[in-house]
Amino acid sequence: MSAAATEPQAALELCGIPLRHPVLNGSGTFDAIAARRAFGDALLERFPFAAFVSKTITPKPRAGNPPPRLYETPSGMINSIGLPNKGLAGFLEHDLPPLAELPVPLIVSVMGTSREEFSELVEGVASRDAVAGIELNVSCPNVKSGLIVGEQPSETLALLEALRGLSAKPLIVKLTPNTADPAAVAVAAEEGGADAVSLINTVRASAVAPGGSEPWLGAGSGGLSGPAVRPIALDQVRRVAEAVSIAVIGMGGIETGAHAREFLAAGATAVAVGTASFRDPLAGDRVRRELIEPGANVG
Ligand SMILES: Cc1cc2nc3c(=O)[nH]c(=O)nc-3n(C[C@H](O)[C@H](O)[C@H](O)COP(=O)(O)O)c2cc1C
Repeated sequence: MSAAATEPQAALELCGIPLRHPVLNGSGTFDAIAARRAFGDALLERFPFAAFVSKTITPKPRAGNPPPRLYETPSGMINSIGLPNKGLAGFLEHDLPPLAELPVPLIVSVMGTSREEFSELVEGVASRDAVAGIELNVSCPNVKSGLIVGEQPSETLALLEALRGLSAKPLIVKLTPNTADPAAVAVAAEEGGADAVSLINTVRASAVAPGGSEPWLGAGSGGLSGPAVRPIALDQVRRVAEAVSIAVIGMGGIETGAHAREFLAAGATAVAVGTASFRDPLAGDRVRRELIEPGANVG
């Protein structure tokens, strides 16, 4: 690929969503409502991302997994947060209004355990003007088949076929890395009418309590993120980008503009910063600067 082809664009369009730059947040890794409380309107003036992806919501409220929910690994972190959220109605009533005030397009992440649940979520959020796009978190079992939707091309295709007609808004499928052939799942998502795919979600992982033999995490296992997963993410983004013609959002361990550039060179249209935002809430802004501002320190 020529240098010109990999040159990041300052402003771009992601499946019809206008972006001022290519850096988004990974779902569940930046609490914009809490950040607004902490930083006030300064957050809006210097919002670190070109679009905001909400944490995943489910039809009914969820408390999340029992603690402990985090474990630090060499160059990474395992989490078993378990998608705590207010449920669809709670999200629409309490979270959507403040998220609609953000100065960037809003993408809402949703997860159901059946086509019916996904349909309820897509219809519920798509009807709101403030929502620019919907990300489908498919790293969950279908209660009917017992299969993880995003691990199976056939399940992913069937889900998209059920959802595509419900909204003209962009549907982004968040791919799991925990499958032998993520490109086959991405192709199925495209066939079903997805407008983009995003990857990677966390890599399935476990930890043992220090000095013991019991699992450390309350849920038994969790998902690995951070720099440790970056080479896996880069490989999967490249394979997926070669297999589909829809847009690809690349993420997994991105901490610098140089890392973001690698994902764009691998075929991503945009990138997302996840775990890095926990250490530095402005990591996304730094990644953007290093990526697109000439002369910025490219780490
Ligand atoms: C604490 C935590 C919570 C997350 N919550 C979600 C979520 O709600 N929905 C989702 O699709 N991905 C979730 N993710 C996955 C991230 O969006 C991202 O795909 C993954 O962490 C890889 O990127 P990173 O290495 O930059 O963090 C979460 C990750 C972490 C670390």
